[in-house]
Amino acid sequence: MRQKVIAGNWKMHKTNPEAIRLVTQLRKYMEKTPPRKTRVIVCPPFTALSVVHEAIKGSKIQLGAQNMFWEEEGAFTGEISPRMIKSTGAKYVIIGHSERRRYFKEDEHTINRKIHLALKNKLKVIHCIGETLEEREQNLTQDIIINQIEWGLKNITPEQMKNIIIAYEPVWAIGTGKTATPEQAQEVHAFVREMLNTIIGQNVGDRVTILYGGSVKPENAAGLLAQPDVDGALVGGACLEARSFFKIIQASEQV
Ligand code: PGA
Repeated sequence: MRQKVIAGNWKMHKTNPEAIRLVTQLRKYMEKTPPRKTRVIVCPPFTALSVVHEAIKGSKIQLGAQNMFWEEEGAFTGEISPRMIKSTGAKYVIIGHSERRRYFKEDEHTINRKIHLALKNKLKVIHCIGETLEEREQNLTQDIIINQIEWGLKNITPEQMKNIIIAYEPVWAIGTGKTATPEQAQEVHAFVREMLNTIIGQNVGDRVTILYGGSVKPENAAGLLAQPDVDGALVGGACLEARSFFKIIQASEQV
């Protein structure tokens, strides 16, 4: 059985006091109605990782970062290494988010370096993939997915895939209010599994957790999460408020 995962990507939101407030509220909801089958991960900005870690101690909430650099250490002003992330208590890191690809020109090569380094440092990876609107309209969705798996996950072994979660996030659905329909999500998720089986082998595609991301909200979560190949969600906007994020967790518990 694949584990259900609901992860919140806070992006560039929340000062430290705001972060503590948000996660404390979430913790209260989760203590009142504990999720039984859903793993819950929050990914605050780097600056809030340590304080959030402190605020979730003893709870079921797990911690992740939103990005990291591809080198262990050195003269890379402004960058954050996997060891620094680990030292905050975080266990996950999001890699290859479409906003990183778009605004910071991350490509499959840099993403691949980051994934290898994260795994080497015992961080679990949430690897984001997905096509733009233009690519979808040109019928390129499958080609883009193949390319992202082939190059982004180059030289990743079936064994290493145990520490990788895939997040399928169609770029046209991120922050736009436009969600993929449950059927559209299911179709791509099934294709991702098939390609993981083909490219990486040993039926890893059947075992890996694949999240859907892109305008997931309490109102549309149940339909998406009911799809057989959708194992959870990577939530942006709707995770900035504890109540709406918790409602998505509850939707995951009910499928
Ligand atoms: P969104 O963001 O839920 O605000 O669309 C999702 C994401 O970028 O991970």
